[in-house]
Amino acid sequence: MCRVACLVALIVLMSPSAHALDNGLALKPTMGWLHWERFLCNIDCDRDPNNCISERLYMQMADVMVKEGWKEAGYEYVCIDDCWPSHQRDAQGRLQADPKRFPGGIKKLADYVHSKGLKLGIYADVGKNTCAGYPGSLGYYETDAKTFADWDVDLLKFDGCYMDWTLVGEGYVNMSNALNKTGKSILYSCEWPLYEWPFQKPNYTAIRETCNHWRNFGDVYDSWSSIKSILDWTASHQDIIVPSAGPGGWNDPDMLVIGNFGLSHAQQESQMALWAIMAAPLLMSNDLRDICPRSKELLQNRLIIAISQDPMGQQGYRSVKVDNFEVWERPLSKKRLAIAVLNMFEIGGPRGFFIRAVPGWKICEPQCNVTQILPQYKELGVQMPHTKLDVFVNPSGTALLTVTPISGDFTGLHKLHWEESVKRKHTIL
Ligand code: GLA
Repeated sequence: MCRVACLVALIVLMSPSAHALDNGLALKPTMGWLHWERFLCNIDCDRDPNNCISERLYMQMADVMVKEGWKEAGYEYVCIDDCWPSHQRDAQGRLQADPKRFPGGIKKLADYVHSKGLKLGIYADVGKNTCAGYPGSLGYYETDAKTFADWDVDLLKFDGCYMDWTLVGEGYVNMSNALNKTGKSILYSCEWPLYEWPFQKPNYTAIRETCNHWRNFGDVYDSWSSIKSILDWTASHQDIIVPSAGPGGWNDPDMLVIGNFGLSHAQQESQMALWAIMAAPLLMSNDLRDICPRSKELLQNRLIIAISQDPMGQQGYRSVKVDNFEVWERPLSKKRLAIAVLNMFEIGGPRGFFIRAVPGWKICEPQCNVTQILPQYKELGVQMPHTKLDVFVNPSGTALLTVTPISGDFTGLHKLHWEESVKRKHTIL
């Protein structure tokens, strides 16, 4: 009896509370590469020709994405961030790429990226200037949208610097309309809530109707403390932000920094697992021309990517914090569930976590099959509600599991976990 009622309640409770931006894009979290975290505003091509922000960088990244299996794994967008334009608009008031660093111009770069079967992203800003001081789009939304469409650009990351915060929302909506008016589908990546949170609670219904994804929190750095702060912010605001995510619109916790300098391998596994649980865009910011094989294997792990891209599009959440472990879960299609167990104790060696140690928390009912994906692939076999399953997790690492029901329907359990997690948002068991 409860089955139908529980399922209906679950759908009502967890499905997005608003319509997504109706441009047919981002039905699954966006996958690709974005230059910012790794390459920042490096514009000195005389000194550092291989790593400066220039057309060469994106062409090389596109080449590698095709050659090294990234495209095949699902990574599709090659995205330019800040520092690409010239400091002056042209005589018609249009943005133009820096002529020295982009001698072929953006249209030619887009053609090149398209010839590889990939898509091109570009960056602009809702205010007077971009965050790095280049011309912003304020007063030019229609001109800039048209320019991007003429160049055949496929994604716009729209930043929020140099804008009166009371006008930020209106600016994002106006640019969304301007993009729509071009008639070309351009994926729209916003930072609207990030710039509003310091002053007021953002209107996530409006944001979901306007953007395909949206940054809520500060910039990711190449460090474990940065990843932790993003996870903590997300968990402590999950009651507000989780219901706003779904096909067409996603919370964006910022780039994957896997393959760089700051994270241990266990920490890289945690970022990958948790970004998949959070249904986050998977936008890598690293040097794909020079990446260690283990990081590459992790970023291309089909089982983790399948969690990220699950067609139900339900964002996961932190369900318990206990004994320096965090348990996150994400309901998947076909009544499956992904579970991530993070060991937050940054001393010692791998620690065992008994799934049944969580009061009132059952893995499934009456029976399920459990597969471990991280740190190694392992079939853990058939489990019961109060399974004795003991998983070992490295310090600051994650054990990632998927749970498949054998019989019965345990979607009601997910609802309970979600309600409990919302209730005890700030309590540690
Ligand atoms: C802001 C954004 C970053 C990046 C920089 C570029 O800080 O949040 O993601 O785009 O601007 O200047």
